Amino acid sequence: MSDTALSHGRILTGIQPTGEIHLGNYVGALKPFMASVDAAKDCFIFIADYHALNMVRDRAHLKDATYKIAATYLALGLDQKKVAFYRQSDVSEIFELTTILSAITPKGLMNRAHAYKAAVDRNTALGKQGADLDDGINMGLYTYPILMAADMLIADADIIPVGKDQIQHVEMARDIAGSFNHLFGETLVLPTYKVQEGGTSIPGLDGQKMSKSYNNTIPLFDQPNRRKKLIMKIITDSKLPEESKDPDQSTIFQLYTQFASADEIQEMRQAFEQGGMGYGEAKKRLAVAVDRELEAPTEAYHEWLANPAELDAVLEEGAARAGAIAKETIGRVREAIGIVSR
Ligand code: ADP
Ligand code: TRP
Repeated sequence: MSDTALSHGRILTGIQPTGEIHLGNYVGALKPFMASVDAAKDCFIFIADYHALNMVRDRAHLKDATYKIAATYLALGLDQKKVAFYRQSDVSEIFELTTILSAITPKGLMNRAHAYKAAVDRNTALGKQGADLDDGINMGLYTYPILMAADMLIADADIIPVGKDQIQHVEMARDIAGSFNHLFGETLVLPTYKVQEGGTSIPGLDGQKMSKSYNNTIPLFDQPNRRKKLIMKIITDSKLPEESKDPDQSTIFQLYTQFASADEIQEMRQAFEQGGMGYGEAKKRLAVAVDRELEAPTEAYHEWLANPAELDAVLEEGAARAGAIAKETIGRVREAIGIVSR
């Protein structure tokens, strides 16, 4: 929990609009996340479009990816009445706070950020030296943790559900908020991270971890016939239906365990072990189980995407709610630092 008197128990997370969501993202991240949102009382979720700008140089891509992420969360049942769901770019106070926090953040802290260090390491590996170590690194990447701190601090967020790779960013936000409070008095809520469960790694079409980097994904919201075609393409060994197979070595079976009922899973396990099922039949069953769970959300996704004006309306309503909190926070911050005209 946070340690200031200003805390509310608010959960906040940001999602970068990049890439097409696949079944691995769904099982490993989105599904558990949506379940935790359901249980939360006060929740802010936003699309981190200005974070994405550090990498994306294509206006159509940024725009489309933003709508796709919004449609994905709404199709999976995000309740916009309960959750403030907004675009980062719609809450301008975030950027004012970023400027203020930049003034008190030591440059050395940014030098230690994992993403920046990884970019420098890549240049080192290419044999670069000196000033060239910063080749290809923009200031947005370098100061990424400050913008991310502002995302959390503007909203008085207490709890930030994260994957392991984001822990350092929350720790930095905490450091920055702590320094601010030390310099100017108790003003900002110190956020805490909560590492999300997960761990189930879903294999892709070729049996490696499903990942957009390996080109082996099944998109979450493909039309059912396209999804089935991809499932039929899952690579298997050449065992015949009557041969015994190890279910735990089978991509089909591993995917099936994420979508089928306990009885169905048990039935396929036995059939595999006893040599009573071919891969073709197993794939068909997998496609049925996936469709059963995703049919309604897939339809909802395509409906949302066909109505960008409705998506805009949802995101604007979220921005109004987040904006009201953001105005209060920036008011306190301005007051604390001595910028009082408004
Ligand atoms: P990708 O590997 O396709 O680039 P990301 O790194 O963008 O996916 O992952 C986004 C989220 O989805 C992370 O929380 C990650 O743990 C989860 N995730 C990605 N791929 C898988 C997978 N194959 N199995 C389980 N979870 C996954
Ligand atoms: N950096 C996060 C990611 O890449 C996205 C993000 C931006 C975020 N601002 C945030 C997450 C604030 C949590 C809180 O996944």
